[in-house]
Amino acid sequence: MSGANGLNLTLKVWRQKNDKDKGQMETYQVADISPDSSFLEMMDILNEQLIEEGKEPVAFDHDCREGICGMCSMYINGEAHGPGRGITTCQLHMREFNNGDTIYIEPWRAKAFPVIKDLVVDRSGFDRIMAAGGFVSVNTSGNTQDANAIPIPKADADKAFDAATCIGCGACVASCKNASAMLFVSAKVSQFALLPQGRPEAAERVQNMVKQMDEEGFGNCSNTGACEVECPKGISLENIARMNREYLSSSFKKEEV
Ligand code: SF4
Ligand code: FES
Repeated sequence: MSGANGLNLTLKVWRQKNDKDKGQMETYQVADISPDSSFLEMMDILNEQLIEEGKEPVAFDHDCREGICGMCSMYINGEAHGPGRGITTCQLHMREFNNGDTIYIEPWRAKAFPVIKDLVVDRSGFDRIMAAGGFVSVNTSGNTQDANAIPIPKADADKAFDAATCIGCGACVASCKNASAMLFVSAKVSQFALLPQGRPEAAERVQNMVKQMDEEGFGNCSNTGACEVECPKGISLENIARMNREYLSSSFKKEEV
Protein backbone atom coordinates (compact mmCIF):
# COMPACT_ATOMS: atom_id res chain seq x y z
CA MET A 1 0.00 0.00 0.00
CA SER A 2 1.39 3.42 -0.84
CA GLY A 3 -1.30 6.01 -1.71
CA ALA A 4 -0.41 9.71 -1.54
CA ASN A 5 3.21 9.08 -0.58
CA GLY A 6 3.88 6.63 -3.44
CA LEU A 7 7.04 7.34 -5.41
CA ASN A 8 7.09 7.82 -9.15
CA LEU A 9 10.55 6.91 -10.39
CA THR A 10 12.59 6.68 -13.56
CA LEU A 11 14.86 3.62 -13.58
CA LYS A 12 17.91 3.36 -15.81
CA VAL A 13 18.68 -0.36 -15.74
CA TRP A 14 21.64 -2.18 -17.31
CA ARG A 15 20.40 -4.86 -19.73
CA GLN A 16 22.85 -7.39 -21.15
CA LYS A 17 21.89 -10.72 -22.73
CA ASN A 18 25.13 -12.54 -21.83
CA ASP A 19 28.85 -11.96 -21.36
CA LYS A 20 29.37 -11.56 -25.14
CA ASP A 21 26.66 -8.91 -25.51
CA LYS A 22 27.79 -5.26 -25.25
CA GLY A 23 24.82 -4.34 -23.07
CA GLN A 24 23.09 -0.97 -22.65
CA MET A 25 21.01 1.08 -20.24
CA GLU A 26 17.23 0.83 -20.66
CA THR A 27 14.80 3.34 -19.20
CA TYR A 28 11.68 2.28 -17.29
CA GLN A 29 9.05 4.13 -15.27
CA VAL A 30 7.55 2.76 -12.07
CA ALA A 31 4.69 4.49 -10.29
CA ASP A 32 3.24 4.65 -6.78
CA ILE A 33 6.07 2.72 -5.10
CA SER A 34 5.61 2.54 -1.34
CA PRO A 35 8.49 4.20 0.58
CA ASP A 36 8.23 1.20 2.95
CA SER A 37 9.02 -1.33 0.24
CA SER A 38 12.53 -2.65 -0.12
CA PHE A 39 14.65 -1.96 -3.17
CA LEU A 40 14.25 -5.57 -4.31
CA GLU A 41 10.46 -5.36 -3.89
CA MET A 42 10.57 -2.32 -6.16
CA MET A 43 12.54 -4.46 -8.67
CA ASP A 44 9.86 -7.17 -8.33
CA ILE A 45 7.19 -4.59 -9.19
CA LEU A 46 9.21 -3.51 -12.23
CA ASN A 47 9.48 -7.13 -13.34
CA GLU A 48 5.75 -7.78 -12.91
CA GLN A 49 5.13 -4.71 -15.04
CA LEU A 50 7.57 -5.93 -17.73
CA ILE A 51 5.97 -9.39 -17.77
CA GLU A 52 2.51 -7.85 -18.16
CA GLU A 53 3.84 -5.82 -21.09
CA GLY A 54 5.19 -9.01 -22.68
CA LYS A 55 8.81 -7.94 -22.11
CA GLU A 56 11.65 -9.87 -20.53
CA PRO A 57 12.07 -9.23 -16.77
CA VAL A 58 15.36 -7.91 -15.42
CA ALA A 59 17.63 -10.70 -14.12
CA PHE A 60 19.03 -9.93 -10.68
CA ASP A 61 20.51 -12.05 -7.90
CA HIS A 62 18.84 -12.42 -4.50
CA ASP A 63 18.18 -15.13 -1.96
CA CYS A 64 17.79 -14.43 1.77
CA ARG A 65 16.61 -10.80 1.45
CA GLU A 66 17.85 -10.15 4.98
CA GLY A 67 21.53 -9.27 4.59
CA ILE A 68 22.95 -12.75 5.10
CA CYS A 69 23.62 -14.51 1.80
CA GLY A 70 25.48 -11.76 -0.10
CA MET A 71 23.65 -12.43 -3.37
CA CYS A 72 22.00 -9.05 -4.00
CA SER A 73 24.84 -7.45 -5.90
CA MET A 74 23.68 -4.17 -7.42
CA TYR A 75 25.43 -0.93 -8.12
CA ILE A 76 22.87 1.77 -7.37
CA ASN A 77 23.50 5.39 -8.30
CA GLY A 78 27.23 4.69 -8.49
CA GLU A 79 27.50 2.92 -5.13
CA ALA A 80 27.73 -0.77 -4.30
CA HIS A 81 24.49 -1.67 -2.45
CA GLY A 82 23.31 1.91 -2.99
CA PRO A 83 23.13 4.79 -0.52
CA GLY A 84 23.47 4.05 3.19
CA ARG A 85 26.25 2.32 5.07
CA GLY A 86 26.38 -1.15 6.59
CA ILE A 87 23.48 -2.52 4.55
CA THR A 88 23.03 -4.78 1.54
CA THR A 89 20.76 -3.97 -1.40
CA CYS A 90 18.00 -6.15 0.08
CA GLN A 91 18.08 -4.04 3.27
CA LEU A 92 17.78 -0.78 1.34
CA HIS A 93 14.33 0.83 1.49
CA MET A 94 12.66 3.10 -1.00
CA ARG A 95 12.27 5.81 1.65
CA GLU A 96 15.91 6.64 0.88
CA PHE A 97 14.72 8.03 -2.48
CA ASN A 98 12.52 10.98 -3.42
CA ASN A 99 9.51 11.21 -5.66
CA GLY A 100 10.68 11.97 -9.22
CA ASP A 101 14.18 10.55 -8.74
CA THR A 102 16.09 8.83 -11.51
CA ILE A 103 17.90 5.73 -10.23
CA TYR A 104 20.79 4.11 -12.08
CA ILE A 105 21.06 0.34 -11.53
CA GLU A 106 24.09 -1.59 -12.78
CA PRO A 107 25.84 -4.91 -12.11
CA TRP A 108 29.18 -5.25 -10.30
CA ARG A 109 31.83 -4.30 -12.83
CA ALA A 110 35.09 -6.24 -12.61
CA LYS A 111 37.03 -8.41 -15.06
CA ALA A 112 36.93 -11.29 -12.57
CA PHE A 113 33.11 -10.96 -12.26
CA PRO A 114 31.82 -11.37 -15.85
CA VAL A 115 28.17 -10.48 -16.42
CA ILE A 116 25.96 -13.56 -16.82
CA LYS A 117 22.83 -11.59 -17.59
CA ASP A 118 21.60 -8.04 -16.82
CA LEU A 119 22.53 -7.47 -13.15
CA VAL A 120 23.76 -11.01 -12.44
CA VAL A 121 27.52 -11.56 -12.38
CA ASP A 122 29.60 -14.70 -12.04
CA ARG A 123 31.27 -14.66 -8.61
CA SER A 124 32.52 -18.23 -8.75
CA GLY A 125 36.06 -16.80 -8.49
CA PHE A 126 35.29 -16.27 -4.78
CA ASP A 127 34.26 -19.95 -4.47
CA ARG A 128 37.55 -21.07 -6.03
CA ILE A 129 39.50 -18.85 -3.62
CA MET A 130 37.62 -20.46 -0.70
CA ALA A 131 38.28 -23.94 -2.09
CA ALA A 132 42.00 -23.08 -2.22
CA GLY A 133 42.22 -22.58 1.55
CA GLY A 134 39.13 -21.15 3.23
CA PHE A 135 38.65 -24.07 5.60
CA VAL A 136 40.24 -25.95 8.49
CA SER A 137 40.98 -29.66 8.32
CA VAL A 138 39.28 -31.43 11.21
CA ASN A 139 40.28 -34.76 12.69
CA THR A 140 37.12 -36.83 12.41
CA SER A 141 38.61 -40.03 13.78
CA GLY A 142 36.40 -39.89 16.86
CA ASN A 143 39.01 -38.09 18.95
CA THR A 144 37.96 -34.61 17.84
CA GLN A 145 38.53 -32.07 20.57
CA ASP A 146 35.56 -29.91 21.50
CA ALA A 147 36.31 -26.44 20.09
CA ASN A 148 35.11 -24.85 23.35
CA ALA A 149 37.78 -26.75 25.28
CA ILE A 150 40.49 -24.57 23.71
CA PRO A 151 40.84 -21.26 25.58
CA ILE A 152 40.89 -18.24 23.24
CA PRO A 153 41.42 -14.63 24.36
CA LYS A 154 38.15 -12.70 24.05
CA ALA A 155 39.77 -10.00 21.90
CA ASP A 156 40.99 -12.61 19.37
CA ALA A 157 37.63 -14.39 19.32
CA ASP A 158 35.86 -11.06 18.68
CA LYS A 159 38.20 -10.13 15.81
CA ALA A 160 37.87 -13.59 14.26
CA PHE A 161 34.08 -13.31 14.52
CA ASP A 162 34.10 -9.84 12.94
CA ALA A 163 36.16 -11.18 10.01
CA ALA A 164 33.81 -14.15 9.68
CA THR A 165 30.83 -11.84 9.13
CA CYS A 166 31.98 -11.27 5.52
CA ILE A 167 29.11 -12.52 3.35
CA GLY A 168 31.12 -12.76 0.11
CA CYS A 169 28.95 -10.20 -1.69
CA GLY A 170 31.78 -8.74 -3.75
CA ALA A 171 30.97 -5.08 -3.05
CA CYS A 172 34.62 -4.57 -2.07
CA VAL A 173 35.73 -5.69 -5.54
CA ALA A 174 33.06 -3.61 -7.26
CA SER A 175 34.00 -0.47 -5.30
CA CYS A 176 37.74 -0.78 -5.84
CA LYS A 177 39.23 1.09 -8.78
CA ASN A 178 41.59 -1.90 -9.24
CA ALA A 179 38.82 -4.51 -8.70
CA SER A 180 40.92 -5.96 -5.89
CA ALA A 181 39.58 -8.80 -3.77
CA MET A 182 41.97 -8.16 -0.89
CA LEU A 183 39.28 -7.23 1.67
CA PHE A 184 37.32 -10.43 1.00
CA VAL A 185 40.36 -12.71 0.98
CA SER A 186 41.87 -11.05 4.04
CA ALA A 187 38.63 -11.53 5.99
CA LYS A 188 38.64 -15.23 5.12
CA VAL A 189 42.33 -15.58 6.01
CA SER A 190 41.91 -13.63 9.26
CA GLN A 191 38.94 -15.56 10.62
CA PHE A 192 41.20 -18.63 10.81
CA ALA A 193 44.58 -16.97 11.44
CA LEU A 194 43.29 -15.51 14.72
CA LEU A 195 42.17 -18.84 16.17
CA PRO A 196 44.36 -21.73 17.35
CA GLN A 197 42.33 -24.12 15.19
CA GLY A 198 43.47 -22.21 12.11
CA ARG A 199 47.18 -22.02 12.90
CA PRO A 200 48.42 -25.46 11.73
CA GLU A 201 47.46 -24.70 8.10
CA ALA A 202 47.88 -20.90 8.25
CA ALA A 203 50.99 -20.62 6.06
CA GLU A 204 49.68 -22.93 3.35
CA ARG A 205 46.25 -21.27 3.49
CA VAL A 206 47.40 -17.71 2.86
CA GLN A 207 49.78 -18.77 0.09
CA ASN A 208 47.13 -20.81 -1.73
CA MET A 209 44.33 -18.26 -1.37
CA VAL A 210 46.49 -15.36 -2.59
CA LYS A 211 47.73 -17.45 -5.52
CA GLN A 212 44.14 -18.28 -6.50
CA MET A 213 43.09 -14.64 -6.07
CA ASP A 214 45.80 -13.59 -8.55
CA GLU A 215 44.88 -16.35 -10.99
CA GLU A 216 41.25 -15.19 -11.00
CA GLY A 217 42.30 -11.80 -12.37
CA PHE A 218 41.47 -9.58 -9.39
CA GLY A 219 43.54 -6.38 -9.25
CA ASN A 220 46.10 -5.23 -6.72
CA CYS A 221 45.33 -3.31 -3.54
CA SER A 222 46.47 0.32 -3.59
CA ASN A 223 45.14 1.20 -0.13
CA THR A 224 42.41 3.62 -1.23
CA GLY A 225 39.99 2.11 1.30
CA ALA A 226 36.83 2.30 -0.86
CA CYS A 227 36.22 -1.39 -0.08
CA GLU A 228 35.99 -0.75 3.67
CA VAL A 229 33.60 2.18 3.16
CA GLU A 230 31.22 0.22 0.91
CA CYS A 231 31.41 -3.14 2.73
CA PRO A 232 27.94 -3.88 4.17
CA LYS A 233 29.48 -5.83 7.04
CA GLY A 234 32.08 -3.25 8.09
CA ILE A 235 35.05 -5.54 7.39
CA SER A 236 38.11 -3.57 8.46
CA LEU A 237 41.24 -2.80 6.43
CA GLU A 238 43.08 -4.15 9.48
CA ASN A 239 42.42 -7.59 7.96
CA ILE A 240 44.41 -6.69 4.84
CA ALA A 241 47.37 -5.69 7.02
CA ARG A 242 47.06 -9.01 8.89
CA MET A 243 46.92 -10.99 5.64
CA ASN A 244 50.01 -9.18 4.34
CA ARG A 245 51.89 -10.10 7.55
CA GLU A 246 50.71 -13.71 7.28
CA TYR A 247 51.76 -13.83 3.63
CA LEU A 248 55.21 -12.38 4.33
CA SER A 249 55.99 -14.70 7.23
CA SER A 250 54.71 -17.74 5.30
CA SER A 251 56.94 -16.77 2.34
CA PHE A 252 60.00 -16.90 4.65
CA LYS A 253 58.86 -20.30 5.95
CA LYS A 254 58.58 -21.55 2.35
CA GLU A 255 62.18 -20.45 1.66
CA GLU A 256 63.43 -22.22 4.81
CA VAL A 257 61.92 -25.58 3.74
S1 SF4 B 1 34.58 -7.94 2.60
FE1 SF4 B 1 32.59 -6.91 2.75
S2 SF4 B 1 32.20 -6.16 0.68
FE2 SF4 B 1 33.79 -7.73 0.51
S3 SF4 B 1 32.73 -9.63 0.11
FE3 SF4 B 1 32.98 -9.51 2.34
S4 SF4 B 1 31.09 -8.53 3.05
FE4 SF4 B 1 31.16 -8.16 0.85
S1 FES C 1 19.52 -11.19 -0.73
FE1 FES C 1 20.82 -12.13 0.78
S2 FES C 1 22.10 -10.48 1.42
FE2 FES C 1 20.69 -9.54 0.07
